[in-house]
Amino acid sequence: MDTHFTKDPIKAAAYIRGGKLVVFPTETVYGLGANALDEKAVARIYQAKKRPVSNPLIVHLGSPADILRVASRITPTAEKLMETFFPGPLTLILPRHPSLPRIVSGGLDTVAVRMPALPVTRQFLKSARIPVAAPSANISGRPSATTWQSAAEDLKDCVHCILCGPPAAVGLESTVVDCTERLPALLRPGAISIEDLRTAIPEFSSNAPNAFRSPGMHYNHYAPAAKIQIVIHPGEAESGNDKGYIGLDSPASETVFGKCRTPRHIEEYGHCLFEFFRDCDRSGITKIYCQKVAETGLGHALMDRLVRAARSSR
Ligand code: TXA
Ligand code: MG
Repeated sequence: MDTHFTKDPIKAAAYIRGGKLVVFPTETVYGLGANALDEKAVARIYQAKKRPVSNPLIVHLGSPADILRVASRITPTAEKLMETFFPGPLTLILPRHPSLPRIVSGGLDTVAVRMPALPVTRQFLKSARIPVAAPSANISGRPSATTWQSAAEDLKDCVHCILCGPPAAVGLESTVVDCTERLPALLRPGAISIEDLRTAIPEFSSNAPNAFRSPGMHYNHYAPAAKIQIVIHPGEAESGNDKGYIGLDSPASETVFGKCRTPRHIEEYGHCLFEFFRDCDRSGITKIYCQKVAETGLGHALMDRLVRAARSSR
């Protein structure tokens, strides 16, 4: 396929309006988008990603007014969370609008909605003037793409256009909150932390993601080809040219790794994690040691991804 690479959100919007697949940036990770109202275009997303059709997609919107095109109502909890955190790295689950093609929601009667904050993404969505269904822009089961180059590596042969934006600032996928019931439930931790959510809704109690309500939690995720082992201290990591290490603490100078990264703080750890995984795969690393972090704030999301990557890579 002749893929068009562009930095112009208006050009990319024309592709989406024409029923084509478009890779686009967001502040969390890159997305693989199609017109959410076009069933055939959405079906091509599942094919391109090799994603099970029972795993629903997030609908991306340019403005809050668009929500009622895809959701039948905005619940009181959703209203509060939108006021505080939209636009941003937060996805809300709402009752689905009957006219939204069922394939977007994997057959569920709910829909996931998100309004990204990155300016180029907002321009893209505003000029598209349609809701854009998009999962992360990676082959299913691989780490999410946080740069357009990584998205191209996985999907170049099946997308018509790649909107080349900056590397994703957050680097981890959005927080997902189910707002369909009286009390909201966290389905996936992300950059909007549980502590942040409690500032808007103090009765937000559960810390553990509610896997039962989230289809995506049942699939393997975020895994590079290399095996992942979580360590408390860098001293536990075995050295070798085929080994990788990432963590806030530096390993001892006598240990040698094929790939080694010591982010300065947890935000940088989240920002570079998936790209580090992909880099390790490109260099034939067979085992990656990842240092554990405290499970508060962004640490909750980071540990969720590390644990799932370790589980999937076994
Ligand atoms: O940051 C992100 O959220 C990125 C960017 C592109 O927006 N998107 C992303 O999409 O990570 P994806 O498809 O890789 O993950 C979406 C998650 C999946 O775990 C899916 O099961 C869940 O959201 N989800 C989507 N619709 C749902 C629904 N109606 N009910 C429950 N979970 C839903
Ligand atoms: Mg994904």
